[in-house]
Amino acid sequence: MDDKPIQPEEPFPQQGRERMICPQPISALGTGEPNMEKPLLARMSPERVFMMGDNPALPRMPKAPKLLDFFRLRFSQITYHHLLQSAKNALDAGHDERIVIACLLHDISNGAFLRTEHGYWSAQMVAPYVSEEIAWAIQYHQALRYFADESAGFEYPDSYNHFFGADYEPPEYIQQAHREARAHRWYMTSRLITVHDQYSFQDNVVIDPEMFTDIIGRNFRQPRAGLGFDGSPVAHMWRTMIWPNNFL
Ligand SMILES: [Fe+2]
Ligand SMILES: [Fe+2]
Repeated sequence: MDDKPIQPEEPFPQQGRERMICPQPISALGTGEPNMEKPLLARMSPERVFMMGDNPALPRMPKAPKLLDFFRLRFSQITYHHLLQSAKNALDAGHDERIVIACLLHDISNGAFLRTEHGYWSAQMVAPYVSEEIAWAIQYHQALRYFADESAGFEYPDSYNHFFGADYEPPEYIQQAHREARAHRWYMTSRLITVHDQYSFQDNVVIDPEMFTDIIGRNFRQPRAGLGFDGSPVAHMWRTMIWPNNFL
């Protein structure tokens, strides 16, 4: 996107060689696209190796990346705007910072990682850095999106009728997660994510991510070593977004 600074290309360890990118196996599975491991391995030579480290086609991340660096330098445009708009909606509605940060993070795995099971991945990615309640709410929002709660101001999203067809029924594990969430003391935290979620797909709304710097500072424990380098159980997930094309 235009507001992402492009960082200068710097030397990298594999300079002088062609570097092949092998697509992730999960992205080809079931699509009819061939798994490229074998054909790419057959093309390998001393001058043609596999990508490891910084890919010059991507903006370079700082050495100790923070949350907003991932927003600016890695996330897809849709996720970038969607998360900022959701958080701003929650803020404008007068909710406390807990809800605002939950909205800001709720679909974070869609940005540059994985869409499938996004509530669970998103919760796991941020769990070491936020309160238990926020991670819980993010995990359960995936299920709650399929179930209306009119008393909270949430109807079944019309977008889901378009995405999945009007006759789509969520699988049993999602129905089970919905029942668990309903009975939980943090239900409304997760429900409010869904409330501010559904109105947040407008184009042409420009929000400066810096407006959330203070809220992030108070509700997201940024590791001094940077996301990806703090030795946390999820550091590898952040590193995967820094170097998404590493062969191994
Ligand atoms: Fe979501
Ligand atoms: Fe969302």
